[in-house]
Amino acid sequence: MRRSLAGLLGATALALTALTQPALASQPAANQPGARTLADVIPVPVSVSADPEADFRLTPATAIEADRDARQVGDYLAGLLRPSTGYRLPVVERTSAPSIALELGPTAQVGDQGYQLTVTKKGVTVRANSSDGLFAGVQTLRQLLPARVESRQVVRGPWVVPGGTIVDYPRFGYRGAMLDVARHFFSVDEVKRYIDQIAQYKINRLHLHLADDQGWRIEIKSWPRLATYGGSTEVGGGPGGYYTQEQYKDLVAYAASRHITVIPEIDMPGHTNAALASYAELNCDGVAPPLYTGIEVGFSSLCVDKDITYEFLDDVIGEVAALTPGRYLHIGGDEAHATTPEDYQKFMGEVLPIVAEHGKLVQGWHEIAKTGLPASAVPQFWDTDGVDAATAAAAAAGNKIVMSPANKAYLDMQYHENSPLGLHWAGYVEVADAYHWDPSTAVQGVGEASIAGVEAPLWSETLTDSDDIEFMAFPRLPGIAEIGWSPKASHDWNGYRERLAKQAPRWEVQGIDFYRSPQVDWR
Ligand code: ACM
Repeated sequence: MRRSLAGLLGATALALTALTQPALASQPAANQPGARTLADVIPVPVSVSADPEADFRLTPATAIEADRDARQVGDYLAGLLRPSTGYRLPVVERTSAPSIALELGPTAQVGDQGYQLTVTKKGVTVRANSSDGLFAGVQTLRQLLPARVESRQVVRGPWVVPGGTIVDYPRFGYRGAMLDVARHFFSVDEVKRYIDQIAQYKINRLHLHLADDQGWRIEIKSWPRLATYGGSTEVGGGPGGYYTQEQYKDLVAYAASRHITVIPEIDMPGHTNAALASYAELNCDGVAPPLYTGIEVGFSSLCVDKDITYEFLDDVIGEVAALTPGRYLHIGGDEAHATTPEDYQKFMGEVLPIVAEHGKLVQGWHEIAKTGLPASAVPQFWDTDGVDAATAAAAAAGNKIVMSPANKAYLDMQYHENSPLGLHWAGYVEVADAYHWDPSTAVQGVGEASIAGVEAPLWSETLTDSDDIEFMAFPRLPGIAEIGWSPKASHDWNGYRERLAKQAPRWEVQGIDFYRSPQVDWR
């Protein structure tokens, strides 16, 4: 059923259709099969003004105009469009040819992540205050082109962009996806594939869950056995793996090229069996436990009373901080059931200053809100009942919160009781459930102004490869992305499910194996 076959067949069928159909050059975009309008985009834009007289058609003569500061986005756009169109699409500073112009400069209304996109008969202009904004505009432009533009081989046009203007900017600055590479390890290429998939929906944070009971996934030069031994297996007993520091830097740079900031997580004081198994001296009794390949939680704890625990964390946090350009490190802090509440306070009292000494700010699961947090720390709410006094108190004290309620935003929850992958401890989460929530009412006492944004975590107890990732993330991830980006007033399931259906041909061409929820008319 999964990606390899269905996806490839889908892509081939589409490519063949494109080649055998007569050119539809004279018809306006809206009359073509798989019609796209400016309002079809996910996340739905803030404001759209269509002009059916102003469609733009890419031709072999089209150029991409971008000055030095916009060049990276211009090259990225060319890389998207060249394989399927077969056009040269030179990226140039100035041109008199019909063009897609990427313009950096003062742009009203759109802030530091938004953009304006204008389509006329003569060309497309994306304008923004920042390259992040240009990149977001390019993702919109991409969805305005036919789905077959996603093909990596030349296919037939026409390549028509519907005319009009979009003014667009995000509701929240933080729109994240988390990938658990600890329960099952995912290769650099698998993570890059996911980065490309999430970037299309304007996700701008990738939280990598790099260490848990079942595996330690990043090389730490001062404590090498963490990776070589602690990373040597995974859930189910497979061979596991880890990223060398060079590979991690490569992932961070790849994410940055998609305007995504990596937030590395080293979970502590619980979820640490892989570390405890690697170094006996980290255990209170000096005895290393065996490696763990099951899926229980809450049984491990770093030894709060030993000095070496903090020497270890100083080394680990120091190395990870040095490899990570983003401002935030995630220190986990969840489900520390094997740590007493007193020890938890003491532990966080030691660790928070270590992160600060290495020049980073703290993100953590919402349990960290129980400790004395600096105002810059970001608790990430993951519970299901929307009530947590400590999270509300942190918000009242000025901390910003990331919203990941497990019964809405966890992409690893099964869709229904017969879903082949996933867990259901937070419930079954169908596409409508993942879309039907509002961050500003998700947690009692945490209003709009206290919310940094949303994140869709994908835990990997049951997932082993890209095929599995895609089946869980699609089609739910675009819904979380829309909740994070689009205005609250635009929230509308009936409109959303129609736009979602129109994404499917894109996923087929991209080889994304998605769950064909019966809640959506995939046509
Ligand atoms: C979590 O799901 N334990 C953050």
